Amino acid sequence: MSTHIDAKPGDIAEVVLMPGDPLRAKFIAENFLEDIVLYNTVRNAFGYTGTYKGKRVSVQASGMGIPSISIYANELVKFYGVKKLIRVGTIGAIGKDVKVRDVIIADSASTDSSFIHNIFGRSIYYAPTADFEMVYDAYQIAKNMGVKTHVGNILSADRFYNDEIDNEMLSEYGVLGIEMEAAALYTIAVKHDAKAVAICTVSDEILNGVSTSSKEREQSFKDMMIISLETAIK
Ligand code: HPA
Repeated sequence: MSTHIDAKPGDIAEVVLMPGDPLRAKFIAENFLEDIVLYNTVRNAFGYTGTYKGKRVSVQASGMGIPSISIYANELVKFYGVKKLIRVGTIGAIGKDVKVRDVIIADSASTDSSFIHNIFGRSIYYAPTADFEMVYDAYQIAKNMGVKTHVGNILSADRFYNDEIDNEMLSEYGVLGIEMEAAALYTIAVKHDAKAVAICTVSDEILNGVSTSSKEREQSFKDMMIISLETAIK
């Protein structure tokens, strides 16, 4: 086992979906995978392995925020040989034409987190970037499903609650939405020769306060999960 994942080598598939919420990991495993095995319950960060259309796929809860996803992403790539990581989560939209229930595929993730500075020092403003083929596959799959999909830059914010981030300005510069994990996932994956992408469903429109009802959220979550699983087995 690794420090936060109680699995043996081989228990986890080479491709892993990473929702933030452990109960969403359970939902994905129970509703979309077959022959599931629960390999981790440490801290209730549930991890399951099963098959989707005959191919091995795991689902590992990441928790919320960059410190939490960094722990799980690091352990997956370093100790379990994971090669593809797909974040599935919600995102608050700030992009001009981005509405609740749309999907955002983040080809890049800006951040206000200090982790970039901690890795690269003062002079490098590293740009965390998704794997192009995974972005491409996810986009094609989403389009074929008829889901309204945007591809572009997002912000992985360090704080959910803040009074300082200028959302309007970020929107002007083409940032489509705000979540809290993708930038770290991309940076950790590429360092360890793994590939990553974040496929997010829009839960709220930050600039005008619109949010989805739980019923609406359910269907758009299902779309996002199917896009992610189809991308996983490509
Ligand atoms: N901020 C950060 N993360 C989020 C948001 C938000 O407004 N909405 C969904 N995830």
